[in-house]
Order: sequence, then C-alpha cells, then structure tokens
Amino acid sequence: MHRRRFLEWLAASPLLAQDSDPISKPEEAINVLEFEAAAKKALPPAHFGYMATGVDADATLRANREGFSKVQLRPRRLVDVRTLDTTATLFGSKLDHPIVLAPVGNQGAFQPQGELLAARAAGAKKTQVILSTMTNSRIEDVAKAADRPIWYQLYATNRWEVTQHLLQRAENAGCPVVALTVDTNSGRRTDTLELSKRFDKRPCASCHPEGQFLRRKAMFEGIDHKGLSTGNPGMDWKFVEKLRGATKMKVLVKGLEVGEDARLACESGADGIIVSNHGARATETGRGTIECLPEVVDAVRGRVPVLIDGGFRRGTDIFKALALGASAVCVGRPYIWGLAAFGQPGVERVIDILRAEFELVMRQCGTRNLAAITREYVKL
Ligand code: FNR
Repeated sequence: MHRRRFLEWLAASPLLAQDSDPISKPEEAINVLEFEAAAKKALPPAHFGYMATGVDADATLRANREGFSKVQLRPRRLVDVRTLDTTATLFGSKLDHPIVLAPVGNQGAFQPQGELLAARAAGAKKTQVILSTMTNSRIEDVAKAADRPIWYQLYATNRWEVTQHLLQRAENAGCPVVALTVDTNSGRRTDTLELSKRFDKRPCASCHPEGQFLRRKAMFEGIDHKGLSTGNPGMDWKFVEKLRGATKMKVLVKGLEVGEDARLACESGADGIIVSNHGARATETGRGTIECLPEVVDAVRGRVPVLIDGGFRRGTDIFKALALGASAVCVGRPYIWGLAAFGQPGVERVIDILRAEFELVMRQCGTRNLAAITREYVKL
C-alpha cells in the first residue's frame, strides 16, 4: 500500500515531470534553458543536431558555459535602484537593452519562415537582430518584419563581385551595420551533427541535394553558384580594409578571440568587434569566449565597441560580460530553441526572461545603468 502511494506521488511530482516533459507553453519557462528540451521534442534529430553541435568533441561548447563560473560577482549594497536605464547607442542604433539576437543561418530548419518570426519577435521586444547571410527568407522581408533597422552578417564568399552584391542588397534593405564572420573560413568538423543524422530516419538528400547548398539561400537568388563558396581561406586583414572602403555600413569583425587580432581589426578600420567562437562551432580551442574577452578589451583600448557571444544563458552571464568591457552580448541557440518550440511567442519569451534576469542582477549589484557596470563588479 505504501509503495503504491509512493509511486502515485512520484508520478504526479513536478520533479519527475521536469525530467520527462518539456514545457508545453512559453509562459511555463522558468529560465531559457528550459526551451532546449522543448526544441528537441519539436525538431527532427538532424535539425536539432545542426543547432546543438559544437566541433570535434564539443569541449569548447562546454567551455563557453564553464567560463562564466570563473567570473564572480561583487555586488554593492544600498544603492537606490528603483529606476533602471538599460539603453545603449551602438553604431548609431538605439538599443533598448544590450541583448542582441545573433545571426543564425537556415532558420527554416527550425520553423517555417523562421527568420521572419524571429524578426517579428525582435521588433515586438525592441531587440536588435543580426540577419545571417544564410537566411532562408529574403532580407527585404526580414527588415520589414523587424520593424527596425536590422544588422547584416556577411559570409564574404570567394568572389568579390558576389560580396559587393550582398553588401548592396543589405544597404538597400536599410542595414546600418555589417558583421563580417571570419572564424569558419577553413571549414570545421561538426561531429555531433554527423552523429545526430544517424538517428534521423528521413534521407537528408531528399531535401538537401548534393552540390545545391546555396539553392535555398535567399541572399544567393539570381547568382551563379558555380564554384561559389561561402568560406574564403584566402581572406586576410587586407580584406577588412577593402570591405571598409566598399560599404557605407559600419563594419564589425565577428569571430575574434585574441588580443593581437583585436588590435589588427582596429588598425584595419573595423568599427567594432564581436568576440565569438561561433557558438563553439568553429575551432576546438577549449576556451570560453568570456575568458577571451579581457585580452580583447585590453588590446582595443576603447577605440571601438566590443560585443561578445557564446553560451550566454543567464542575466548574470550578460552582466559579467558588460563588467569585463563588452558593450552588448549576442545570443544564438536560446532564441532558436524558443523559435523551434513555439515560433514567435517562444522567441519573445526568451528575450523577456533574459532581460528580466539581467535587470534583476543590475539591481542586485547596485548598477543603475550600463555605464555603471564596470570591472569593480567582478572578480576573475
Ligand atoms: C550560428 N552562428 C552563425 N554565425 C554567423 O556568423 N553566421 C551564421 O550563419 C551562423 N549560423 C549559425 C547557426 C546555428 C544553428 C548556430 C547555433 C549558430 C553563430 C552565432 O551567430 C553565434 O555566434 C552563436 O550562436 C553564439 O553562441 P550561443 O548563444 O549559441 O551559445
């Protein structure tokens, strides 16, 4: 009798439910991590694997999270924090808060019209969004959906005339900022993705025919795909100078991890830097981006704004980055989990949670605005 009662209690326990049942509505989420299981349930294994994968043994993926535990907070008490100001102006764009949606390609793999839904959520939540070159939706439509100027992420390709075409299209769509991604030019090994394909019963080739990678990429419509590659192993710092001269958009370099490159980026005319390891999807460095941030900030010496992404899941993560000198942080997978599981409302809830957590820690630490969040609030 006791055993039966215990089993009945266990079956009804929210503890057990948490393990087996992902959230069924965005409102149920306690934190953004809860969206991951919901996304896993919603997606075919290969598409979830594409999102979840790091590179090699995913050591850098773990390092991106573990890095935050090496930075401790130093809260100050008895500061009047009834009114907070989380706004910032970056590259001429007015941000309501410093949480930016990172460029994530192929969002159609997570939700039909994925980029449009994410952009609508960003618009509704006054959040800056960066659109990937690998977008499935047209940039012109995404810009309209966001209802605010979007930023554009550039894979420059191996053909300059194609780069020029992409830049022109982004400028015409009203983008004030272009972020050149430089961390995947030499390819990568996404083992977790490859393994996940084994659990997917659907033949990948039926949707992804060999050699037609760019066929469904909206930025490449009307372009001759022959010999075209989005990676460019020949790219060097002269390319950044050339890019700077070829567009009126502000140029950011995305994917830097060391101080030496940050200095070169400044010398090459970059207007900003995104410290990033592509969500641990580029090089298996074993180093979390938050650990890379101090040397980059030191090398930049305030010349240009520094942004960062990689493993940001909590308000405290965002606070730590700002304290170490970042002007804003980008998040990738969390909003994709929200998108995959619940569409636009999922993305909106992810933004709301991150923002609420960030504002809470600002208050807890006694910082009333972003400028107040300085090195004194953290210990390495
Ligand atoms: C990415 N990222 C990325 N970056 C980029 O510059 N262009 C791109 O097209 C993509 N595509 C992409 C797809 C997927 C599925 C993921 C998960 C990531 C990297 C992205 O911009 C960002 O750097 C990371 O996602 C940040 O790490 P977290 O927040 O995902 O841990």
